[in-house]
Amino acid sequence: MSIRIANGRVYYKGQFIESTVHIDNGLITSIGREFEKDHEETFDARGYLVLPGLIDVHSHLRDGALSYKEDFRSGTQSAIAGGFTTVLDMPNSVPPVNSVKRLVDRIKVAEDRGIFCDVGFYATPSAPEIVEGLVHAGAIGIKAYMAKTIEGTSYSTFDEISSLINACASSEIICSVHAEDPQHLTEFNGMTAKEHWSAHPPRAEIEAIKKIIHAAISSKGAVHVAHISTSQGLELVERAKALGVNITCEGTPHHSMLTTERIDGNENRYIVEPPIRSQSDTVSIRRGIKSGLISILATDHAPHSIEEKGGVHPPPGFPGFETAFAVFMKMVYEGDLSLETVVTGFSEAPSMRFGLGKTGKIEEGYEANITIFDPRKDWTVRSEDFLSKAKYSPFEGFRFKGKVYATFIRGRLGYLDENILDPPLGRVIKRNKIGV
Ligand code: DOR
Ligand code: ZN
Repeated sequence: MSIRIANGRVYYKGQFIESTVHIDNGLITSIGREFEKDHEETFDARGYLVLPGLIDVHSHLRDGALSYKEDFRSGTQSAIAGGFTTVLDMPNSVPPVNSVKRLVDRIKVAEDRGIFCDVGFYATPSAPEIVEGLVHAGAIGIKAYMAKTIEGTSYSTFDEISSLINACASSEIICSVHAEDPQHLTEFNGMTAKEHWSAHPPRAEIEAIKKIIHAAISSKGAVHVAHISTSQGLELVERAKALGVNITCEGTPHHSMLTTERIDGNENRYIVEPPIRSQSDTVSIRRGIKSGLISILATDHAPHSIEEKGGVHPPPGFPGFETAFAVFMKMVYEGDLSLETVVTGFSEAPSMRFGLGKTGKIEEGYEANITIFDPRKDWTVRSEDFLSKAKYSPFEGFRFKGKVYATFIRGRLGYLDENILDPPLGRVIKRNKIGV
């Protein structure tokens, strides 16, 4: 099957050029010359941005016992509506992905259910000794939750996290860490965002990042700080990088744009871990993204049911796929970030770091995963329209300029103009080679 995406503004080798992308059998065959080959379909992209398919290294697709919050179908439909062609699924599902068997089972459920974009799976090992087995079974990354004990396993102390990072280094797999040190958290029994953020102070993140950096120095392993949220945490990462530590971090839409000063702390829909921080932290996060210190952007799509979110024990998190790119584009329109930074943060950078093969770029020989963005479309976030099962958002009512118009998976249209097209085109992706 051949198709050409004609005359769009194509992100190619670091810049936008008006060009045509030719695709054959799911791969990009050439970029540039406008010509028509035999039996070639045409997608007219004039006036649109033609971007590498967006990649999200941090999402919670749920399914299993949590299918009422999201399942593989609804989650990956929501992903392609947001322009994502590859997402990496977090292992805190029910049951958690903490053994080889659980990983194999989860992969099978995803394949049977049908996924609309490519999905890679993290695992959170029951013990560091099983990391190697998880890598062989296809885990895309290892995830440590420093603040949580999962079925009796904890990675909160220096010894615990460092033995995990060591095991990841030996097996050449990246270790992503939720950096909150439980020693600096207090129990959250309240209901409001305000109560929650005092239970999760910046100190918890800062102390956790110190442990991670020390562990990474001694093991030389690749570590990744998920959803970094504090100025001081970022300073630590900056110093570590300067010393040559193999560390990266990711920035989320909410930690870049929402501030405790501007949101209503009495509302529980804003509850997320780590929490929304102060204005000065968001300034640091945006600066970090701009400078490349935060090289990877991620949604932390974490859907819950609206009933839970409004209940007496509101769980942390909210859906993010369908708003993430527009949130960062707002920062582009406001002059805070460059378009190139946002595009690479959601494509080339995560692909390289997580070893995702020929994805993340529009270049010859790459998989034809492509996101078509309409820069002219004005829209307002209405969570009731989300394809995610989670119909609430911290960005409810925000007005955005520019929206994803179409999403191609290996040269086939999966999403077009607000519609999901069948069949599901996604595949489970596996890797066993470390990124850079
Ligand atoms: O806000 C969050 N939600 N933070 C986490 O670490 C977990 C996530 C979830 O799974 O809902
Ligand atoms: Zn998460």
